Amino acid sequence: MNYLRSISLILLSFLFVFSSAQAQQNTPLITYNTQHHPTLARNGMVVSQEYFASEAGLEILRAGGNAIDAAVATGFALAVTHPQAGNIGGGGFMMVYLKGEDRTIAIDYREMAPKAAHRDLFLDSKGDVDNARARFSYQSTGVPGTVMGLTQALEKYGTMPLEKVMAPAIRLAENGFEMPWALADSLSRFQQRLKTDKATASYYYKPDGEPYAAGEVFRQPDLAKTLQAISAEGAKGFYEGWVADKFVETMKANNGIITHDDLKSYVVRERDAVSGTYRGFKVVAMPPPSSGGVHVVQMLNVLEGWDLKELGHNSAGYLHRLTETMKYAYADRSKYLGDPDYFDVPVSALTDKSYASSIRSKVNLEKATPSTEIAPAPALPYESNDTTHFSVVDKDGNMVANTYTLNFTYGNGKSVAGAGFLLNNEMDDFSAKVGVANAFGLLGGEANAIEAGKRPLSSMTPVFLFKDGEPLMATGSPGGSTIITVVLQTILNVMDFDMNPAAATSSPRIHHQWFPDRLFVEPGHSIDTRRVLKAMGHNVNDDAASLGDRVLGSTQSIVIAPNGILMGAADPRRPGSHAAAF
Ligand code: DON
Repeated sequence: MNYLRSISLILLSFLFVFSSAQAQQNTPLITYNTQHHPTLARNGMVVSQEYFASEAGLEILRAGGNAIDAAVATGFALAVTHPQAGNIGGGGFMMVYLKGEDRTIAIDYREMAPKAAHRDLFLDSKGDVDNARARFSYQSTGVPGTVMGLTQALEKYGTMPLEKVMAPAIRLAENGFEMPWALADSLSRFQQRLKTDKATASYYYKPDGEPYAAGEVFRQPDLAKTLQAISAEGAKGFYEGWVADKFVETMKANNGIITHDDLKSYVVRERDAVSGTYRGFKVVAMPPPSSGGVHVVQMLNVLEGWDLKELGHNSAGYLHRLTETMKYAYADRSKYLGDPDYFDVPVSALTDKSYASSIRSKVNLEKATPSTEIAPAPALPYESNDTTHFSVVDKDGNMVANTYTLNFTYGNGKSVAGAGFLLNNEMDDFSAKVGVANAFGLLGGEANAIEAGKRPLSSMTPVFLFKDGEPLMATGSPGGSTIITVVLQTILNVMDFDMNPAAATSSPRIHHQWFPDRLFVEPGHSIDTRRVLKAMGHNVNDDAASLGDRVLGSTQSIVIAPNGILMGAADPRRPGSHAAAF
């Protein structure tokens, strides 16, 4: 009955939004007459990759918490229910928008290289990159930042005590939860790799080694104890004390290099967000060590010079311009992006509108330019020195866009024995050697070389959009190197094509990253479009499969419609995602 009542309320609000949108002739932001329907609500919303984690955030919103309280609850809950990427052993970025102060804070809790790390860490005796060590050993782990990031965000911008916002995560770990199909399927597919580590095998598989079936109750008592230590003592409960002891024991027993001193020295950085403008919208995104914000703004600057709407959504002409723009951005990424604490990243030069028009003038509108003929800019204009994603919006218009990760699915697959959590393999995001691509095929150089204490370059791109000074959208995605282009297309769908977030999310995407010189095209683009793109000289890879997936990214977005209705879209590309709202 309650269910029916909620459905009818939602339908009513939907009609209300639809009719008021029709009436507001000069509010062409969002179209409602599409087959893609967002989740609608008024009071608050959490959109994440996993049902229980979205519900954990919603529980906190309903209890009167703000967007930051709910985001921290969701962040810790994902570490329990979505171990593929949700984590306390990894790191990430959280963008916070405080409506009352009209201020965005970019919180960098990316992993740091341990003190014993050095430039040639992953080279073998012949000077070649040892990929097994860079990706699957204990040396692949960077010093985790998630616990410090989430606790600090809560302390500074939340309203509730840590104990309260961590309660849902602890409950899920202690009492367990019915294993969702998505996790059961994933653990079953990854068992060969995950069972090579004794602790991981004991945490994620039954005592007889069998994977859990969907619907079976899955408990994580060691993880619950670790979460309790954090809940009681804050970040110290993770970076010091018995959890840190277990962490360092695991490292010592397995040739890892993270020490007590590394854990104690971990710092979160609050950075100035990168911002840009695009056809009257303001775009605010994560700065370095994310490459995402810089390149989203750079690409928007290039694209602003063409009438994309006139070309038509996902037409060959539109996709051609997108692709060529992407190639120039990823070429610059390989040379100019790294940890700004170690390398002077030319953010304002790369996001300069006149630099963008110089790129635009090089684009041949009829033919694809081979990547070999595109290089990073030899010099940039003068640079001054003043320089699983989830989204949450609360009833006051505060927003959080958070992307965090273990790097690979389940990180390096190794767990801290006795403490119940997986380790990241984020050290592979550094350039192990100039000119040698990392796991995502990304090239890099000096700016992203390994150094003690440095943060590896990331593509994670949490983004906010604003229109007429008001918050409009929070979004972001997983997907390694494809994150930047996935986020770009999602926000273009809203800004240029007036799509609601569900339509913006569901539309087929493309990806190009300069090298390899291949245009990855999702299923859903027409065969005619592919044919035209091929005739223009693009090396079309028809199903994006060689990036390890048939689909690109998985965005979790919320749009605040002009009438204040929250519109959420959980990406259908990966199973289990959920918009929780009230
Ligand atoms: O920070 C980065 O760019 C990568 N470590 C992200 C990895 C990722 O998105 C994997 N998920 N699909």
